[in-house]
Amino acid sequence: MNFTLTEEQEMIRQAARDFAHTELLPGVIERDETQQFPSEQVKKMGELGFMGMMVDPEYGGSGLDTLSYVLTMEELSKVDASSSVIVSVNNSLVCWGLETFGSEEQKEKYLKKLASGEIIGAFCLSEPEAGSDATSQKTTAIDKGDHYVLNGTKNWITNGSSASVYLVIAQTHIEKGYKGINALIVEKGMPGFEIGPKENKLGIRGSDTHSLIFNDVKIPKENRIGGDGFGFKFAMKTLAGGRIGIAAQALGIAAGAYELAKNYSKERRAFGTEISNHQAIAFKLADMHTQIEAARYLVYKAAWDKDQDNDYDISGAMAKLYASQVAMETTVEAVQIFGGNGFVKEYHVERMMRDAKITQIYEGTSEIQKIVISRSILKK
Ligand code: CAA
Repeated sequence: MNFTLTEEQEMIRQAARDFAHTELLPGVIERDETQQFPSEQVKKMGELGFMGMMVDPEYGGSGLDTLSYVLTMEELSKVDASSSVIVSVNNSLVCWGLETFGSEEQKEKYLKKLASGEIIGAFCLSEPEAGSDATSQKTTAIDKGDHYVLNGTKNWITNGSSASVYLVIAQTHIEKGYKGINALIVEKGMPGFEIGPKENKLGIRGSDTHSLIFNDVKIPKENRIGGDGFGFKFAMKTLAGGRIGIAAQALGIAAGAYELAKNYSKERRAFGTEISNHQAIAFKLADMHTQIEAARYLVYKAAWDKDQDNDYDISGAMAKLYASQVAMETTVEAVQIFGGNGFVKEYHVERMMRDAKITQIYEGTSEIQKIVISRSILKK
């Protein structure tokens, strides 16, 4: 086993760390408070190659491995999880899905712009009645020969109003169940496509989350990804990689909160000494550090599996399940170490605690990850 990062991976991690501190940190509290999308920052991340990290340079990407992507996600998430989810969805759900399963024409037309960050994308699977139960799609894409007619509603869509391209999962052949589902590329502005109101969220408030409404939207057949009925498999395969990105986000939130709490504990004094000298605090830090390190190796292992072309369904699910739990527990403890200041916005940790919660919910709840893991270990 070799746990050493390559020189290139070290450089990418440093670049992401520098960017997070110089570009994401200023204004992160205000963006959270006002639910402001980080448009300028996303533009700069595109210029740095963060929006299509794993995409072949032929299609405008950076041509990097999954581990480099994970390192970047970790560093961005230490500072601003609202910005990192935008990166995650664009990279692992939209760009990866299109590059792996899209046609040459789709890659030329959409992937190049998405990978360079010129535009961003959204992944649209969830519905009012199809969150965890993803096969129960009510959105329909009726086959009309040379095009589909799309009708229905999608919920909780990340990049909901800021995206230009949407990968929409919809039912074409109802009688075939999940085997009759398709994935379609929908462009913003297509007649009948409406963006619903913005959700007022607990956390990741800088990212824009919307419902989407489709009323008789005409989608050309060439916008279907893969063969007829491939949509559900497309969603599952894409989400398997997406979960590694969210696991890295959870890891970053935990590591960021831990760093802040550790530094604070060495400055804040109580009972005549720095609070880090009290075992009650020192032991909290020891637990946080140990759990974060364990989460880190699960996340890196999942990325490594993907880079080795190993099966990464189970390693990605374990990484997300554990890292999101660590993110939640670590941020709660970080607020506790900060005490009264932890409850105040300017110290950042209360935001991180709110941001951590979503990592146990999106791209498959913790309960869904346990379904994936248990099915995998029991079939062996
Ligand atoms: N890779 C390839 N195929 C897969 C797969 C995978 N990882 N997982 C399932 N499949 C296939 C199965 O093999 C099966 O096909 P076959 O019959 O041909 O073998 C088919 O898909 C149906 O699978 P299941 O019978 O296992 O289906 P299920 O109804 O039991 O559901 C589930 C499985 C794992 C619970 C799935 O529904 C699931 O992952 N649900 C959670 C959905 C989710 O993650 N939603 C998040 C929304 S996206 C989001 O949050 C994005 C954002 O904006 C941040």
